Amino acid sequence: MTLWRSRIPGESDPSAQALNSSLAVDRRLGPQDARASAAWARALTRAGVLTPPESDQIIAALGAIGTELETGVFGFQETDEDIHTAVERRLAELIGPLAGKLPTGRSRNDQVVTDFRLWVLDHLPALDAAIADLQTALLERAEADAAAALPGYTHLQRAQPILLSHWWLSHFWPLLRDRERLEQVQRRTGQLPLGSAALAGTAYPIDRDALAADLGFEAAVPNSLDAVSDRDFAVEFLFSLALTGVHLSRLSEAVVLFSSREFGFFEIADAFSTGSSQMPQKRNADIFELARGKAGATIGALAGLLATLKGLPSAYDRDLQEDKLPVFMAYDTLSLLLPALTGALRSLVVNRERMQAALEPDLFATDLADYLVRRGIPFRQAYEISARVVRLAGEQSVPISELTLADLKRLSPAFESDVQAVLDTSRSLAQRSARGGTAPEAVAEQLKEARRAWSHPARNAQGGKG
Ligand code: ARG
Repeated sequence: MTLWRSRIPGESDPSAQALNSSLAVDRRLGPQDARASAAWARALTRAGVLTPPESDQIIAALGAIGTELETGVFGFQETDEDIHTAVERRLAELIGPLAGKLPTGRSRNDQVVTDFRLWVLDHLPALDAAIADLQTALLERAEADAAAALPGYTHLQRAQPILLSHWWLSHFWPLLRDRERLEQVQRRTGQLPLGSAALAGTAYPIDRDALAADLGFEAAVPNSLDAVSDRDFAVEFLFSLALTGVHLSRLSEAVVLFSSREFGFFEIADAFSTGSSQMPQKRNADIFELARGKAGATIGALAGLLATLKGLPSAYDRDLQEDKLPVFMAYDTLSLLLPALTGALRSLVVNRERMQAALEPDLFATDLADYLVRRGIPFRQAYEISARVVRLAGEQSVPISELTLADLKRLSPAFESDVQAVLDTSRSLAQRSARGGTAPEAVAEQLKEARRAWSHPARNAQGGKG
């Protein structure tokens, strides 16, 4: 059934039909379409357009259609142009001409975007929960790996010793911001377009606030033109998904590196490792590589939607039909990635010895400079001296810890015999005890803060009220 055939008689060319049809994508909005339509029937009843018995009959049939859609038994037809057309066709099959009263004062333009907003609202909680699960895995790791230290890297060069817990938590906080962002997206998505009709507003006395409350929206969009063309909620949701994808990709890249033979810090559990069909010795990190790779497609989805929206004249244009696929694609991607990464992190084996072995004495060069600072030497000068210590050790092909006190004293008389104590991981870590640092006590505090924030991301993420 095409809704507009009485205006343009004759058959559509099959190629045009194929292009017009969005059913393959928007059939996922089925349950939301049935729900929004039932609310519309109630609104029409309050406006005196439908009698209560008519409304009851429509709503009962929509309930049945909703069940058909949710259980997958709904029979789609070749001629259904989109989900709205399909539901309207099915309603007529079930209750006859009375079905024709439902579209009164409503257009597919306000209908589709209402359904889409409902879909986003329906799926936000599952996404939040999946991110929260991954955070839980990170918290568990931070707790279990509390005694392990490894080199922290900048520019992929060994820089300073850090606690592995501190490193795990560094991946916790971005995800907290993601969840905070999702809460904000939820608020802005919860604005109701329905009751805006095609573009100019509905010509029936619809109480849009009551309709908003009925569908669980916070308020009705104040401008009908904006209501039918605004897809900011979809862009923001997609941005959120894309940024979470970026966060997952960074974590994944680190795991790929750390589980390589060159680093040897991590071993990915069998259940999350993949082999090579050619090289039997290999143990690949495909799960993490896929996370890294799929982040690219989610960024592409976001860029694609923004490009679709750019320069659109008001109000509804058919370009807007292209809004759903990128959102569904990115959502599906994240729904696939998050549980896999959660399981893979939980079962990851940490090789503390390899990490320990990577903590070479040169990593204490900053601690050496700090030692001199405590003896009254300005940091810039202390840095110079420490750099010369590193150079001298290089010339002698020994670690800085093996230089003699006499060697050191030649570079600065401020060095005393207690300098050896500085070249020590625990000591180096303990120095960094200011809030946010890698000292065990600071990390223990951070872990507590993370646990508290986990249950209230909106209140606790950085930038929030704390
Ligand atoms: N399938 C369409 C979409 O997703 C529904 C709205 C059609 N509106 C129209 N004026 N042709 O955007």
